Amino acid sequence: MKILVTGGLGFIGSHTVVELQNEGFEVVIIDDLSNSSIQVLEGITTITGKTPIFEKLDLKEKDRVERFFSLHKDIVGVIHFAASKAVGESVQKPLLYYENNINTLVYVLKEVVNLKASNFIFSSSCTVYGQADELPISEKSPVKEAESPYGNTKQIGEEIIVDVCKATSNFSAISLRYFNPIGAHDSAKIGELPLGIPQNLVPFITQTAAGLREQLTVFGNDYPTPDGTCIRDYIHVVDLAKAHLVALQRLLDGKNKSNYEVFNVGTGKGTSVMEIIKSFERVSGHKLNYKIGPRRSGDVVQAYADTSKSNTQLGWKVKLTLDDALRSAWKWQNTL
Ligand code: WQD
Repeated sequence: MKILVTGGLGFIGSHTVVELQNEGFEVVIIDDLSNSSIQVLEGITTITGKTPIFEKLDLKEKDRVERFFSLHKDIVGVIHFAASKAVGESVQKPLLYYENNINTLVYVLKEVVNLKASNFIFSSSCTVYGQADELPISEKSPVKEAESPYGNTKQIGEEIIVDVCKATSNFSAISLRYFNPIGAHDSAKIGELPLGIPQNLVPFITQTAAGLREQLTVFGNDYPTPDGTCIRDYIHVVDLAKAHLVALQRLLDGKNKSNYEVFNVGTGKGTSVMEIIKSFERVSGHKLNYKIGPRRSGDVVQAYADTSKSNTQLGWKVKLTLDDALRSAWKWQNTL
């Protein structure tokens, strides 16, 4: 069965392609290479022994999207990762984010609804919850006003999909709300490849330990948490990739309870920035050079998932530990 993965050369996309191929699916990747590298295709092939079909395509080009789908009418499922995802950049360049994250979603959906089997998995984010009033965060937690255009594109994306589900009988979709993906495939053939200065904590840590960055700045240690630093739910990217496979299979097998479902994908455990630093030092044997700096605007204090719905209804749960994730991130960094 043929599955389209948009953004399939990206961090989460590439790890999901590996799991799909391991499961025997035929994978077609669309990627515009704006935030990924063609070398990732080689990495995937090395791991699975199979080269996915790859189309370098900018999904903002509507006519090229139409032509692509006319050549691939046998696609039975789409996993849509393609989007810009830097929170800070989205504040500076909102229109770039609305064009690249929303227009492209609309162009892809216009084609997916015409497929014989239209099953759609949407890459959403815990960002939609903002600073949740209750912890852990369940799917029933209210979606709050977005703290950034990036977060808003995820909220709008979900709303667009809900409306398409209401209007289209043979279309089914699942939104997966990710918490914080970290780590790399244990082969160290694929991993996180941030372009420029990493915005996210773990790649900044591994680049600092590798001597590529001078020092990590901890963005504030005066938060109302046990050690004063922010708490997140860090999930191994391979566990996250596997959640996409389970969600896709749910739709292919017609096991979904309605034609639109939402699942939080996290470990259910909150970990502070300082705990991440200490864990990294332990698994890598490296003392990390860091200092405490001012808070970063837009940061929520705590976010970690209530995973009961994913565990019971989706039938998925994490298998890998935080140490596994940090160890794999460090092993990957040492191949770069
Ligand atoms: C984690 C913690 C920082 C860097 C973002 C997006 C989210 C998703 C994951 C796309 C925070 C602290 C970080 C540093 C630090 N992305 N930190 N020094 O902000 O929770 O989530 O990435 O889907 O949508 O919002 O992740 O890794 O940037 O930050 O102290 O150099 O690490 O303040 O507390 P975040 P992050």
